[in-house]
Amino acid sequence: MTNPPSALQRPQDWWRDAVIYQVYPRSFADSDGDGLGDIPGLISRLDYLADLGVDAVWISPFYSSPLRDGGYDVADYRSIDARLGSMDDVDSLVAEAHARGMRVIMDIVPNHTSSEHAWFQEALNSEPGSQAWDRYMIREGKGAEREEPPNNWRSVFHGRGWSHMRDADGEPTGYWYLHLFDTTQPDLNWENPEVHAEFRDILRFWFDRGVDGFRIDVSHGLVKEEGLPDFDHPEQFSGLPGFDEEHVANHESMFDADKAHAPYWDQDGVHDIYREWRAVADEYDPPRIFCGETWVPNPERLARYQRPDELHTSFNFSYLDAGWDADAMRTSIVDTIRNHATVGAPPTWVLSNHDVVRHRTRLAPLAADGTADLERGLDRARAATLFTLALPGSMYLYQGEELGLPEVSDLPDDARQDPAWHRSGGTDGRRDGCRVPIPWTPELPSFGFSSSGAAWLPMPAYWSGLSVTEESEDPQSTLEFYRSALRIRRELDALGEGPLQWEDAPEGVLAIRRLSDTGNVLAVLNTTDSPVRLPSSWGADVLLASCPEVALLDDDGVEMLVVGGETAVWVRG
Ligand code: NOJ
Ligand code: MG
Repeated sequence: MTNPPSALQRPQDWWRDAVIYQVYPRSFADSDGDGLGDIPGLISRLDYLADLGVDAVWISPFYSSPLRDGGYDVADYRSIDARLGSMDDVDSLVAEAHARGMRVIMDIVPNHTSSEHAWFQEALNSEPGSQAWDRYMIREGKGAEREEPPNNWRSVFHGRGWSHMRDADGEPTGYWYLHLFDTTQPDLNWENPEVHAEFRDILRFWFDRGVDGFRIDVSHGLVKEEGLPDFDHPEQFSGLPGFDEEHVANHESMFDADKAHAPYWDQDGVHDIYREWRAVADEYDPPRIFCGETWVPNPERLARYQRPDELHTSFNFSYLDAGWDADAMRTSIVDTIRNHATVGAPPTWVLSNHDVVRHRTRLAPLAADGTADLERGLDRARAATLFTLALPGSMYLYQGEELGLPEVSDLPDDARQDPAWHRSGGTDGRRDGCRVPIPWTPELPSFGFSSSGAAWLPMPAYWSGLSVTEESEDPQSTLEFYRSALRIRRELDALGEGPLQWEDAPEGVLAIRRLSDTGNVLAVLNTTDSPVRLPSSWGADVLLASCPEVALLDDDGVEMLVVGGETAVWVRG
């Protein structure tokens, strides 16, 4: 058997159908025993990722940061958080990943800096109207004493979106700065050319070191509507339910209460920025690539970010939001593919990341006692993953989903670090539950995450059975299932980019045929809880099933497959 081509063997277009693995570095692998994952820890696990069969790694931010928002509060875009490693470590990471045929994607945060960034510190020590002030969104307050914020915008992390600029004694002034996230994340002013120049320079800084691309944080943000008009916030934005099972099932993303038509999201002007960035990426050989974190109301708005001179890809969150609902999934797939085709871009697919409830828990039905049924949740998660891996385009995996990790929904309050938790008075901010460190071995207390047994978030005792070493020895494990799926996806031309044909299927069942001159692949997802018979003409040569509930039925010499409830299958044909 010849080795399937790796990402590095297709230097120009590897990203069009890549499988990209997201590393949340603080939670991946800890090399120095401080309980915080780090870059040397990640390097020590690159063989694991190569063996899993991914084409690239996207690493959430590891820049210098006070960690008020897990590193999405950057104090210096050209230096590494000392707790996570050094610039030499990053150079080794890039070299070692490339040596294994994997690309490296970093995370850039252009909507806001940390309040500890030199620019904001300079602003705090400068006067109104100064150059330093113009890099941020600073405005006079309303009211006789300017004691009211300039408008009614709220923070995604709850509470108001503006805080007072303070004087040297810490006293509030009549000026306010905008922060769509935490108070320690002041929004940059993208009307200022200096901000543009700075970010182009930051991109080049990392591209010159061999980094293959960037995921762009809040890529639909950055530009704000002229005049900063008040926004009629949707009602559900206030009083979000707390972390209960219904919430887990129904409330998927931190942006979904507030994503439609806000005067600070998805403004047309943002596209000019990505045209500039694309020109920078295209200066390199091979060209560097971008993936936007683009929360927009519909696939039509999403595709605009992938016009030929803008971003290569963006996360397609409509699919993540579809939940366990065949009709909603199909609508998202059809609309996404159709709209991306108009701009000649491949779609992306993602089921989990560091901001949403892990899909094993999110897709789980509720058991009679009102808790998530995690056994069925795992069946559904594996089925959703297998079906999704058969869609045209690239796919993002989030660390730990290949082990079938569930959300940790019972973290003690005093362990929680999500700023939204604190800003909502403990009623929201569930994102720590998907950031619990990875179990590598069965040994308590931190399952090989850290040599000292430390871990920045507590790990549930039952995770020993979900560790990499345990699952590696079990052919039925979720890890072995992912390894098989990625190997087959790489081997077969039909999977990845290319034509897709829908087959008629019963209610609750999705069936697509991926076409290729070297052989077709049929992918079927049964979201119902009863078995379905596939037509005999679809064939019965199973490449991979998400669980053992797939049987061959011989009906008077005619063979057909029966796919169990909540199961997906890939079949030759
Ligand atoms: C999106 C990131 O994924 C999230 O983790 C972060 O809190 C916000 N952007 C703000 O940077
Ligand atoms: Mg460490």
